[in-house]
Amino acid sequence: MNRVEMRFLSLADNVGLARIAAAALAGQANFSIHDIEEIKVAVSEAVSNAVIHGYENRPDGWVELTMELDESGMTILVEDWGVGIADVEKAREPAYSKDPDRMGLGFVFMESFMHGLEVESTLGQGTQVRMRRFVTLSVSRDAQ
Ligand SMILES: Nc1ncnc2c1ncn2[C@@H]1O[C@H](COP(=O)(O)OP(=O)(O)OP(=O)(O)O)[C@@H](O)[C@H]1O
Ligand SMILES: [Mg+2]
Repeated sequence: MNRVEMRFLSLADNVGLARIAAAALAGQANFSIHDIEEIKVAVSEAVSNAVIHGYENRPDGWVELTMELDESGMTILVEDWGVGIADVEKAREPAYSKDPDRMGLGFVFMESFMHGLEVESTLGQGTQVRMRRFVTLSVSRDAQ
């Protein structure tokens, strides 16, 4: 069991910081390299969204990353106190983006790489993204 809480400014540079922290914590559990790569992508997407959309690229907002490891996996919470999302269901649709220059795939990656994604948001107050990844035991063919 381990728990990490980080609070950092809404700077693009801190996306990398969050990725590395998530990878380092995941490395303490039985996640494979492949699992860790996917966890890093999911964390990047959530933190990027907080910076780009939540704070509209303003560098003076707080982003909080809370990560918890237990026997069965890892829970990750990314929180911002930015503009919030008017329609979460629509925002989660594949290829939906507020910005026509973006792909609208962040939530799709989070959803496909993690085992459970919950998004809570209030307009003008901020957004919470909670994700869970289970440790899955991969049994090789030779061992069967
Ligand atoms: N933390 C947030 N605060 C405010 N709005 C958000 C937040 N996260 C997501 N959104 C909204 O949800 C939409 C979809 O997010 P998603 O990450 O799927 O796509 P995107 O960020 O637009 O594009 P991509 O992630 O592919 O660059 C965003 O365009 C934005 O309108
Ligand atoms: Mg995104």
